[in-house]
Amino acid sequence: MSVPLLDLQAQYATISSELDDAVAGVVRSQRFILGPAVEKFEREAASYLGVRHAIGCASGTDALLLPLRALQLEPGDEVIVPAFTFFATAGAVWNAGLRPVFADIDPVTFNMRAQDVERALTPRSRALIVVHLFGQVAEMEPILELAERHGLAVIEDAAQAFGARRRVSGEWCHAGRLGTVGSFSFFPSKNLGAFGDGGLMTTEDDALADRLRKLRVHGGIQMYHHEMVGTNSRLDALQAAVLSVKLPHLDGWAEGRRRNAAWYDAQLAGIPGIRRPVALAESHHVYNQYTLRVEGRDELKRHLDERGIGNAIYYPLPLHLQECFAGLGYRRGDLPESESAATEVISLPIYPELSPGQLQEVAGALRAFYA
Ligand SMILES: Cc1ncc(COP(=O)(O)O)c(C=O)c1O
Repeated sequence: MSVPLLDLQAQYATISSELDDAVAGVVRSQRFILGPAVEKFEREAASYLGVRHAIGCASGTDALLLPLRALQLEPGDEVIVPAFTFFATAGAVWNAGLRPVFADIDPVTFNMRAQDVERALTPRSRALIVVHLFGQVAEMEPILELAERHGLAVIEDAAQAFGARRRVSGEWCHAGRLGTVGSFSFFPSKNLGAFGDGGLMTTEDDALADRLRKLRVHGGIQMYHHEMVGTNSRLDALQAAVLSVKLPHLDGWAEGRRRNAAWYDAQLAGIPGIRRPVALAESHHVYNQYTLRVEGRDELKRHLDERGIGNAIYYPLPLHLQECFAGLGYRRGDLPESESAATEVISLPIYPELSPGQLQEVAGALRAFYA
């Protein structure tokens, strides 16, 4: 039996009539740009996340780029980012005319820690982007404390963590509610996925929200009057309608992912050569990915590929070693945890609709490899 890494048709099958009606409703209304569907989803997302402002935009990449521009930093100012993340985290910094400075990660959670940020600080540091990688919120309290001490803005890259939570001072807080700005992606493979690209920015800061709302429509709310140079980066109304249908199902889907993760955890326990993902006690992990660290990673990947077991390497080359950033002067060995994670990680199918038979197939293939 082959097992796909992700099966979006399985999710669609469970709510297809609701989704089809929502799309048809937008088509009937012929209101495609911003308008009621986008406003409705923004209200629902703000209420779900417990934030004052939730502002749709065209992608998770723009949900990083627009806040970086809204912070009104100077060209060449430095933004600290983890080296082990999806490219957009650093690409957005570069495209905002700022300088990415790479920090290493915790080998257990794959997230950047305060001590990693501290090592990357310079007098030109102005902001940091903390990524909640694979669906687990980073250890935010010491990062926020450090940022406060050094006057740094904090962007949470929560692209993989819609619905993830962390207990802060006894209160469970959603990802995207803890920093200066939260950034989300609705790329179809995310836990809350659209039927195409989409993104969302969250903040408690009214002035920042005002700038973000302007930046997504060419820099002015009043048509043909531009206070700043913005761009076209709106959340599509069709996507917003799809997201409004999916949002009430999100926590249930996350529970399915958590159940599958617990099942794998039990099945893979004690296999030498496999280190399972670690969910911290203060964290409600939503497993956008279930990512192992393994010995013989590339051979294991071939073994799974040959058996039709979906898998993926997120990410094979850390960002400080990417060709496009060669001019920044990093060398292999500079960020050892990011570099060794890149050679050892492999992600398995974790979507909530996986059948018991499919889960058995995946775990059986891993056991056979390490037998
Ligand atoms: C950590 C991270 N940041 C940013 C992005 C960018 O999101 P998008 O693909 O919607 O532009 C993604 C998604 O792929 C991501 O995983």
